[in-house]
Amino acid sequence: MLKFDFKTYVDSFISKEELRKYSEEKENYIKKLSNCEMTGWTNPIDKELIADIKSTANYIKKNFNCLVVIGIGGSFLGSYAFEKMFQSYFNDKNFEIIYAGTTLSSKYLDELVNYLKNKNYCINVISKSGTTLETTITYKILKDVLKRKYSEEEQTKRIIITTDKTNGALREEATNMNYKSFEIPNDIGGRYSFITPAHLLPLAINYDIDRIIDGYYDGKKLIDIAYEYASIRNILYRKGKLIENFCVYEENMTYFTEWLKQLFGETEGKNGLGIYPTSTVHTRDLHSLGQFIQDGTKIIFETFIKVTNSDNFIDYNGTNLNIINNLVEDSVMRAHFSGNVPCLEIEMDELSLENVGTLIYFFQLTAAFSGLLFGINPFNQPGVEIYKKEVRLSLNK
Ligand code: PA5
Repeated sequence: MLKFDFKTYVDSFISKEELRKYSEEKENYIKKLSNCEMTGWTNPIDKELIADIKSTANYIKKNFNCLVVIGIGGSFLGSYAFEKMFQSYFNDKNFEIIYAGTTLSSKYLDELVNYLKNKNYCINVISKSGTTLETTITYKILKDVLKRKYSEEEQTKRIIITTDKTNGALREEATNMNYKSFEIPNDIGGRYSFITPAHLLPLAINYDIDRIIDGYYDGKKLIDIAYEYASIRNILYRKGKLIENFCVYEENMTYFTEWLKQLFGETEGKNGLGIYPTSTVHTRDLHSLGQFIQDGTKIIFETFIKVTNSDNFIDYNGTNLNIINNLVEDSVMRAHFSGNVPCLEIEMDELSLENVGTLIYFFQLTAAFSGLLFGINPFNQPGVEIYKKEVRLSLNK
């Protein structure tokens, strides 16, 4: 279950009248969103597709002992964030999944190739466009290793492609080589692709995706709250709060904040507009960025993501440490608020597959509304395309 407090440490920054103006426009924005083309992520997922994802995950677990996922940005962050959140810190017994494709570091790739030498692994390459440089290079390097080791027939068993339904080099390769493949639907862009095989296949290896999917669609009920959150963010932005800091209290949620940064950064940052998303992991970063947030330039507001209950009981002088962690966070909110920083709070009763699934839908909805409130297209990323084009030009020189 999720709880939202957008009042206690926010109300004094926003008048009722300001918020009322936004809420009067709510139905218009809901309509605008439903008229957008790239909203396939709000549609139900096909039952046969879920069955195919699960049986492919079982095939991977039965035949190999490692899966290498190759993808970047919206083609990796969702499942990676999830994986990190639910892994054990020290005693991880999950099936081994390596996420590659996010770097052009030769040190990393050289070490990865060496590491995989004695592994019985398969590859899931994920790219909607099928042209992203980091993904293409990593895939080529790892495929060459497979080629040196295995017959063509064996290679075919070890490559799974997730890409656009009809377009791009990867779709062509999947068809020509008869590789197992999955589709990222035409009406779903990278950062909104959580509810597609791009993320559900890697997740189905170690987790019950039915629970994640159920949670995800529960997020639909939060449409009013998502619109309210987007409105408050927009009002705060117009009052000079140009940066949103996402705060988490668990190290294992670090990559969830990376997913949030991508979602909001690519959705809003256009036409010279948008709230710059950043993050802090507490209490670590209270001893670094905490100083700036409390006392520096007054351009920040914060969204705290709190988990109230923990499965792990650690006794500290008769009190569960999780309670102390939460008390510290409440104090942090009060302190930052006193430093002229509006603080919004989202509370999960536990870190469960369902709750995180719901949060993902909720944040996607908020980001989409937010883009529309800024008057920009929430579903493209022209800025990213400019960098990709420049790289292609310089490599072709
Ligand atoms: O959200 C987006 O569309 C981007 O971040 C992409 O996911 C990222 O650039 C990777 O693109 P692709 O899946 O085409 O390789």
